[in-house]
Amino acid sequence: MRTNLLRLCLFAALVPAPALAGDDWVPPVKDPLVLKECGACHMAFQPAFLPARSWNRMMDELADHFGEDASLPADKVQAIRATLTANAGDVVGQGRARKYMQWVAPNGTPQRITENPDFERKHRKISDRTWKDPKVVTRSNCPACHRGADQGYYEDD
Ligand code: HEC
Ligand code: HEC
Repeated sequence: MRTNLLRLCLFAALVPAPALAGDDWVPPVKDPLVLKECGACHMAFQPAFLPARSWNRMMDELADHFGEDASLPADKVQAIRATLTANAGDVVGQGRARKYMQWVAPNGTPQRITENPDFERKHRKISDRTWKDPKVVTRSNCPACHRGADQGYYEDD
């Protein structure tokens, strides 16, 4: 257990190298509106982790967003929807997120990145205790462990 935590600490200390965008890099959100409205409660997740139809469904259901009311005015919903779907995994499919798309059923509209089998496989060695660490709290708290998460860096080698 302790070694796991130690490993995470070392991992988080690695500084991403922006010039070396490897195959695992996921294009980050740059749109100011998405950063503001979808980065208010958690990191603004990279759209490439879900297919466009998932983002469409999410933007239709913001009033009940994982138990929160994340409703927005119609013009903002439209603008955010356009950005997310244009950069979705089945449209752009770049980097690590491309592998996530292989696990999404043809008509599936998953809402969680953290339930994708590629996510589960890459995180299977992490103990329950680490997930429940006060600095982590939830799987969707990517920046707690991936220092470069908001810039799309998740690789640790
Ligand atoms: C009012 C707060 C709030 C706002 C604003 C918000 N979210 Fe969330 N979001 C949540 C909560 C709470 C969860 C569930 C977190 C968890 O269970 O770890 C969540 C989860 C998610 C997840 C799934 C994470 C996972 O587990 O894989 C995605 C994707 C997501 N939000 C996208 C968005 C997008 C896109 C927007 C902007 C339109 C947005 N969120 C705005 C509160 C918010
Ligand atoms: C508790 C810490 C923790 C959290 C929270 C976490 N990760 Fe990770 N993640 C890791 C560790 C550790 C690895 C390395 C696993 C390995 O290489 O065996 C990893 C690996 C990955 C990889 C694979 C990188 C590669 O190139 O192989 C991706 C992609 C990834 N995480 C994305 C995410 C995303 C997206 C989130 C949030 C939705 C997230 N992670 C949340 C700890 C975490």
